[in-house]
Amino acid sequence: MNILFVCLGNICRSPTAEAILRHKFATGGIDWIDVDSAGTAAYHIGNPPDPRSIAAGECRGYDLSKLKARQLSTHDFYKFDHILAMDIENLTNIEKLRPTDATAKVNLAMAYTSFDISEVPDPYYGNDQGFVNVIDLCESIADGFIASISEK
Ligand code: 4NP
Repeated sequence: MNILFVCLGNICRSPTAEAILRHKFATGGIDWIDVDSAGTAAYHIGNPPDPRSIAAGECRGYDLSKLKARQLSTHDFYKFDHILAMDIENLTNIEKLRPTDATAKVNLAMAYTSFDISEVPDPYYGNDQGFVNVIDLCESIADGFIASISEK
Protein backbone atom coordinates (compact mmCIF):
# COMPACT_ATOMS: atom_id res chain seq x y z
CA MET A 1 0.00 0.00 0.00
CA ASN A 2 1.11 3.58 -0.50
CA ILE A 3 -0.24 6.99 0.32
CA LEU A 4 0.34 10.45 -1.11
CA PHE A 5 -0.41 13.73 0.70
CA VAL A 6 -1.07 16.72 -1.54
CA CYS A 7 -1.14 20.46 -0.78
CA LEU A 8 -0.45 23.51 -2.94
CA GLY A 9 3.30 24.11 -2.75
CA ASN A 10 4.53 20.81 -1.20
CA ILE A 11 6.71 22.80 1.20
CA CYS A 12 4.47 23.18 4.31
CA ARG A 13 1.46 20.94 4.92
CA SER A 14 1.95 17.80 2.80
CA PRO A 15 5.65 17.29 3.67
CA THR A 16 4.69 17.70 7.34
CA ALA A 17 1.99 15.04 6.97
CA GLU A 18 4.47 12.80 5.10
CA ALA A 19 7.18 13.09 7.77
CA ILE A 20 4.74 12.49 10.64
CA LEU A 21 3.05 9.44 9.11
CA ARG A 22 6.45 8.02 8.11
CA HIS A 23 7.73 8.51 11.64
CA LYS A 24 4.67 6.82 13.15
CA PHE A 25 4.92 3.90 10.72
CA ALA A 26 8.63 3.48 11.51
CA THR A 27 8.11 3.55 15.29
CA GLY A 28 5.10 1.24 14.97
CA GLY A 29 7.01 -1.30 12.87
CA ILE A 30 4.79 -0.73 9.82
CA ASP A 31 7.14 -1.26 6.88
CA TRP A 32 4.74 -2.23 4.08
CA ILE A 33 3.32 1.24 3.41
CA ASP A 34 5.15 3.95 1.45
CA VAL A 35 4.42 7.61 2.13
CA ASP A 36 5.08 10.51 -0.23
CA SER A 37 3.85 14.07 -0.83
CA ALA A 38 3.38 16.44 -3.76
CA GLY A 39 1.99 19.87 -4.62
CA THR A 40 -0.68 20.83 -7.14
CA ALA A 41 1.41 23.92 -8.03
CA ALA A 42 4.86 24.06 -9.60
CA TYR A 43 6.24 27.06 -7.65
CA HIS A 44 8.62 25.19 -5.37
CA ILE A 45 9.70 22.11 -7.39
CA GLY A 46 13.04 20.82 -6.09
CA ASN A 47 12.99 23.00 -2.97
CA PRO A 48 13.25 21.72 0.61
CA PRO A 49 10.29 22.34 2.94
CA ASP A 50 9.73 25.86 4.31
CA PRO A 51 12.27 26.48 7.14
CA ARG A 52 9.33 27.17 9.49
CA SER A 53 7.91 23.70 8.74
CA ILE A 54 11.32 22.10 9.26
CA ALA A 55 11.72 23.94 12.61
CA ALA A 56 8.18 23.11 13.83
CA GLY A 57 8.72 19.45 12.91
CA GLU A 58 12.12 19.30 14.62
CA CYS A 59 10.57 20.60 17.88
CA ARG A 60 8.23 17.61 17.86
CA GLY A 61 10.74 14.98 16.73
CA TYR A 62 10.00 14.87 12.99
CA ASP A 63 12.69 15.26 10.32
CA LEU A 64 11.55 17.14 7.21
CA SER A 65 14.99 18.38 6.23
CA LYS A 66 15.73 15.86 3.48
CA LEU A 67 12.44 16.22 1.59
CA LYS A 68 12.19 17.92 -1.81
CA ALA A 69 9.07 19.44 -3.37
CA ARG A 70 7.57 17.93 -6.49
CA GLN A 71 4.39 18.46 -8.47
CA LEU A 72 1.48 16.01 -8.63
CA SER A 73 1.45 14.05 -11.91
CA THR A 74 -1.12 11.82 -13.62
CA HIS A 75 1.19 8.85 -12.91
CA ASP A 76 0.45 9.34 -9.18
CA PHE A 77 -3.18 8.34 -9.76
CA TYR A 78 -2.03 4.81 -10.67
CA LYS A 79 0.96 4.54 -8.35
CA PHE A 80 -0.79 5.46 -5.08
CA ASP A 81 -3.69 3.72 -3.33
CA HIS A 82 -4.68 6.85 -1.40
CA ILE A 83 -4.25 10.48 -2.41
CA LEU A 84 -5.12 12.75 0.52
CA ALA A 85 -5.71 16.47 -0.05
CA MET A 86 -4.87 18.94 2.68
CA ASP A 87 -7.72 21.31 1.74
CA ILE A 88 -10.79 21.59 -0.48
CA GLU A 89 -9.22 23.76 -3.17
CA ASN A 90 -6.45 21.21 -3.64
CA LEU A 91 -9.01 18.37 -3.61
CA THR A 92 -10.81 20.15 -6.47
CA ASN A 93 -7.57 20.55 -8.43
CA ILE A 94 -6.60 16.91 -7.80
CA GLU A 95 -10.00 15.80 -9.14
CA LYS A 96 -9.47 17.93 -12.26
CA LEU A 97 -6.20 16.13 -13.00
CA ARG A 98 -7.57 12.68 -12.18
CA PRO A 99 -7.66 10.31 -15.21
CA THR A 100 -11.01 8.54 -15.62
CA ASP A 101 -9.39 5.13 -15.07
CA ALA A 102 -7.35 6.23 -12.04
CA THR A 103 -6.99 3.57 -9.36
CA ALA A 104 -6.16 5.87 -6.43
CA LYS A 105 -8.86 6.79 -3.91
CA VAL A 106 -8.93 10.57 -3.47
CA ASN A 107 -10.11 12.05 -0.17
CA LEU A 108 -9.55 14.90 2.26
CA ALA A 109 -6.79 14.12 4.78
CA MET A 110 -8.95 15.57 7.57
CA ALA A 111 -11.55 12.84 6.86
CA TYR A 112 -9.28 10.57 8.94
CA THR A 113 -9.78 12.73 12.04
CA SER A 114 -12.74 13.37 14.30
CA PHE A 115 -12.26 17.16 14.03
CA ASP A 116 -15.18 19.18 12.79
CA ILE A 117 -13.01 20.94 10.18
CA SER A 118 -12.26 19.59 6.72
CA GLU A 119 -9.07 21.48 5.94
CA VAL A 120 -5.52 21.85 7.25
CA PRO A 121 -5.20 25.67 7.09
CA ASP A 122 -2.43 27.01 4.86
CA PRO A 123 0.23 28.42 7.24
CA TYR A 124 2.42 30.02 4.53
CA TYR A 125 1.38 33.64 5.00
CA GLY A 126 0.81 33.38 8.75
CA ASN A 127 2.86 33.19 11.96
CA ASP A 128 4.69 30.34 13.69
CA GLN A 129 1.54 29.21 15.52
CA GLY A 130 0.07 28.21 12.15
CA PHE A 131 2.95 25.79 11.63
CA VAL A 132 2.41 24.25 15.08
CA ASN A 133 -1.28 23.88 14.20
CA VAL A 134 -0.27 21.97 11.03
CA ILE A 135 1.77 19.56 13.18
CA ASP A 136 -1.18 19.02 15.57
CA LEU A 137 -3.61 18.33 12.73
CA CYS A 138 -1.17 16.09 10.82
CA GLU A 139 -0.57 14.02 13.96
CA SER A 140 -4.33 13.43 14.19
CA ILE A 141 -4.49 12.56 10.48
CA ALA A 142 -1.65 10.06 10.91
CA ASP A 143 -3.25 8.50 14.00
CA GLY A 144 -6.59 8.28 12.20
CA PHE A 145 -5.03 6.71 9.13
CA ILE A 146 -3.21 4.12 11.25
CA ALA A 147 -6.46 3.36 13.11
CA SER A 148 -8.26 2.90 9.76
CA ILE A 149 -5.75 0.34 8.49
CA SER A 150 -5.70 -1.42 11.88
CA GLU A 151 -9.46 -1.98 11.62
CA LYS A 152 -9.04 -3.93 8.36
P1 4NP B 1 1.67 24.39 1.27
O1 4NP B 1 1.83 25.96 1.59
O2 4NP B 1 0.64 24.29 0.17
O3 4NP B 1 1.18 23.84 2.57
O4 4NP B 1 3.04 23.89 0.87
C1 4NP B 1 2.11 26.92 0.63
C2 4NP B 1 3.39 27.04 0.13
C3 4NP B 1 3.68 28.02 -0.80
C4 4NP B 1 2.69 28.86 -1.24
C5 4NP B 1 1.40 28.74 -0.76
C6 4NP B 1 1.10 27.76 0.17
N1 4NP B 1 3.00 29.89 -2.20
O5 4NP B 1 2.09 30.68 -2.52
O6 4NP B 1 4.15 29.96 -2.67
